[in-house]
Amino acid sequence: MPPNKSGLNVLSYENDDDLDLLYSFKKRGYRTTPILYVNGKQISPDLARKARPNQTLLSFLRDVLRLTGSKLGCAEGGCGACTVMISRFEKSNTASSNDEGTNDDNDGGAIKHYAVNACLMPVLAADGCHITTVEGVGSVKDDNLHPIQRAMVDMHGSQCGFCTPGIIVAIYSLLANNATTAHMEEHLDGNLCRCTGYRPIWDAARSLCSDIEDVCTNKVHEHMNAEMGVIRGPCGTPCRSCPERDSCEMDCNAKDKENGKTDQKEKSMENGGGAKSAPKENLCCSSSVDKMSSYQSVLPKDSASSWRNQPIDMFPDSLTSAPDSEIGMELFKPLLVVDSTAHGRSTWMKPTTILELLSLLRQYGESDNGCKIIVGNTEVGIETKFKHAVYPCLIYPSQTIDSLYDITITSTHFRLGACTSLGTVQQECERLIGNANVDRIAKPIYNMLRWFASTQIRNVACLGGNLVTASPISDMNPMLVSMNANLVVASISSISEGSITRRIIPVLDFFCSYRTVDLKPYELVECIDVPLTREIFEYVVPFKQARRREDDISIVTSGMRIILAPKESEHYVIEDMTLAFGGMAPTTIVASETASNLIGMPFCAQTFKKGGEILREELKLPDDVPGGQAEYRITVASSFLYQFFLTVATELKMDADKIQMDPIKYGISIPLPPLPLVEEEEMSGTQQFVSSKKPSSLGMQTYPTPKVVEGIEKKISPTPATAALQTSSNSLGKPLPHASAPFHCTGEAIYVDDIPTPPSTLHAFLLLATECDVTLKSINKEAALKIPGVVDVYTHDDLVKLGGENAIGPIMHDECVFLPVGEKIVSVGQVLGIVIGNSIEISEIGARSVKVEYGEKQVQTIVSIDDAIKAGSFYEFARHTLERGDVDSVFCSSDNKEEEKEPLSMQPRERVVKVEGSFRCGGQEHFCE
Ligand SMILES: Cc1cc2nc3c(=O)[nH]c(=O)nc-3n(C[C@H](O)[C@H](O)[C@H](O)COP(=O)(O)OP(=O)(O)OC[C@H]3O[C@@H](n4cnc5c(N)ncnc54)[C@H](O)[C@@H]3O)c2cc1C
Ligand code: FES
Ligand code: FES
Repeated sequence: MPPNKSGLNVLSYENDDDLDLLYSFKKRGYRTTPILYVNGKQISPDLARKARPNQTLLSFLRDVLRLTGSKLGCAEGGCGACTVMISRFEKSNTASSNDEGTNDDNDGGAIKHYAVNACLMPVLAADGCHITTVEGVGSVKDDNLHPIQRAMVDMHGSQCGFCTPGIIVAIYSLLANNATTAHMEEHLDGNLCRCTGYRPIWDAARSLCSDIEDVCTNKVHEHMNAEMGVIRGPCGTPCRSCPERDSCEMDCNAKDKENGKTDQKEKSMENGGGAKSAPKENLCCSSSVDKMSSYQSVLPKDSASSWRNQPIDMFPDSLTSAPDSEIGMELFKPLLVVDSTAHGRSTWMKPTTILELLSLLRQYGESDNGCKIIVGNTEVGIETKFKHAVYPCLIYPSQTIDSLYDITITSTHFRLGACTSLGTVQQECERLIGNANVDRIAKPIYNMLRWFASTQIRNVACLGGNLVTASPISDMNPMLVSMNANLVVASISSISEGSITRRIIPVLDFFCSYRTVDLKPYELVECIDVPLTREIFEYVVPFKQARRREDDISIVTSGMRIILAPKESEHYVIEDMTLAFGGMAPTTIVASETASNLIGMPFCAQTFKKGGEILREELKLPDDVPGGQAEYRITVASSFLYQFFLTVATELKMDADKIQMDPIKYGISIPLPPLPLVEEEEMSGTQQFVSSKKPSSLGMQTYPTPKVVEGIEKKISPTPATAALQTSSNSLGKPLPHASAPFHCTGEAIYVDDIPTPPSTLHAFLLLATECDVTLKSINKEAALKIPGVVDVYTHDDLVKLGGENAIGPIMHDECVFLPVGEKIVSVGQVLGIVIGNSIEISEIGARSVKVEYGEKQVQTIVSIDDAIKAGSFYEFARHTLERGDVDSVFCSSDNKEEEKEPLSMQPRERVVKVEGSFRCGGQEHFCE
């Protein structure tokens, strides 16, 4: 391997230890060059070798390949601006094969497509995959917009366009999986848009779904209409509320008119609750000829197949080729990449067998630097980026290790490979709903996963990662605890040892304290075993309460399981119960006192009302509990318990009906006891969002016809300038596509962040105060300056030496560039200096290495206006007083009565109206009152 010290992105093995490592791994059959394909082409080995172990896919695409269409928004998997599609040839690893949206070959292998967040996915995790970026979807340059890009342009789906490439690829990936409108509405959940509004984006996304023709010909809507008792047009708007109803000749409208229905209540509701009727001159965006409707196909029927096959056509044959082909043989080898460049030494190992993986863990797990298993990187990525964790050795288990990725059903268990993506688990559980053996496990897992993060995160994150992370608000932990699930943990006793030892540990015991699990550094979680439930009278229900439904972490999360038994013909009795909660303690907890009080009791509302009281006591949180909202969290937890009763009561009725039909099959004698009484007004409690269908996102937008434009046109005599105005005025008020939209939709629009940095560009990172209300005692740059790649560190002293001006501010120069040593720090984040380095990462590491010494706290911390008044702390020097007129004299002259002309203070008390109160405004007008 050629030693290479020069380029920052070039891996180098000049170090003897690295060379030894490399040769020893080569002897073990490892390859050292990743195999990457982007937009249909293989990345040359020279470029592929620039992929670093701790580099994200986004950084590789943007900085190395200069594909800047994918954007960096939040950098933490929350916004979707970085979405790319990963396609991989996989053998089926599910309980039984599920062909939808895949391209199965005869061996059971298939090309699978996943939208992922490139800001979190390590570039080396894409080894052996085909990556499609927005540039690979279609382009303006080649006059080749993909239909989804065309639809997004025509339907006004982009405004600033920063989120658009990510949205295009997210939709493209769902279409590659043959999405129906319902599937699109369920899974397009990982992209945020700050400025366009989601209606046009949804319109565009739906317009290409596989069932859109049916939807347009009203088949699907007829069904919906029957369900909801409302006639809706193809745009989704109820006909009775449509401002264009009189001129509309659609069948659905004619039918509705024939029925003579004029439901004014519905009309006013649809118009926002206030409008009596929509003015005639308003046009409905969703059904005007200029605008596509919420459900509208945008393609001629015969064009359907060519673009639908694009993801498969672009997929490189070599990635599906036989294992004995050149690439095939390489792909089956484990991978080792070592980077000892200025980015910090790091190693990536991708073992292809469980034995090799366990021996790596044995070899390096307990060494000084340790090593970290990495799968989706949705936890580890956040830890390294935002919590500055450093993991110099990463182990990524290859998909060829079956036991880590398989999903199987045994006679006693539903077994989930620990590294299977949550998306695969969700898809498989959805398919297994209705399967008598696993229905009662598959349904709650599926329902919980629907609200777990986003499709992009679920496509890479795994169940093992969720459990090992040991987050107190993990969504899967409480549910698996309630199901009595176990982890299978594997290890080998020495590197030379060929046999694997396995131990079984209940999920509850595994999570032993805050962020700590019962797992040795050399151990691997191999799979999670969920015991099968009874076919009747056993129920599991998941609960989640978050600030928003999609893509948000829980405030309280729970899994509840119950077994009921008919007690003669009297009632059902609670035979067993587990109530597990997340968000109520540093670990997942089980409300065992509540459960033991309820076991043996009749299954009825009264029992659960009493149970709620016991639970409130058992889960009591102190007011100053970390995370806050103590009372709210307790209330949510106890409301979950009552909702559990209502939900189980509904399911019990279904079981009772089944048994009545065939008591012999279930071995239960009838008559069954009466079902528990549920009050009608409480039935809404059974409709939790966790298990409810996501509502269609439909919208109607009205806007006035620009009459004023006609007036202007008539008045203006044509001059060259007004002629131009006239031409443009023809466009006024019309929904013309945004001129830049095609460039947004293809990633060809260039944003500041996309401009290539000139060679040898230096990067800067600010040195910020981590404390406030203390004096800055000293700044020691020594450690930072020793870091290779850190060029210099500048503080106030340097500014003085250079003769620079330290006082800054827009009007008042009341802030400083760098705080001088000895001065008081007024806020956390105050700038103390700047670190210059060869890359942004190095500058950041440099900034973290500067030693800042703080003095003792001087005064009390002031965080509110009340604190400031109490401490007499005012910005006197910046006091602005606006005075106009004389209040007293105005009051005196406001009335003609002679006696009131004297100042207010001198008037008789009963005539003075005094208004008292206090006024606060927050945000930008802070500290004003
Ligand atoms: C935007 C966003 C939204 C999220 N939303 C949610 C949410 O709604 N609910 C929720 O519960 N979580 C959520 N998370 C957290 C996260 O997605 C999950 O915890 C995820 O399951 C972690 O899996 P991973 O494969 O990405 O783990 P990684 O980050 O790859 O690894 C996490 C940890 O698990 C270890 N590990 C992984 N597999 C094994 C194994 N087989 N054996 C031993 N150790 C292993 C790793 O060494 C590491 O310590 C969210 C995260 C993000 C970034
Ligand atoms: S940049 Fe926001 S999800 Fe990746
Ligand atoms: S953020 Fe979506 S278009 Fe601006």
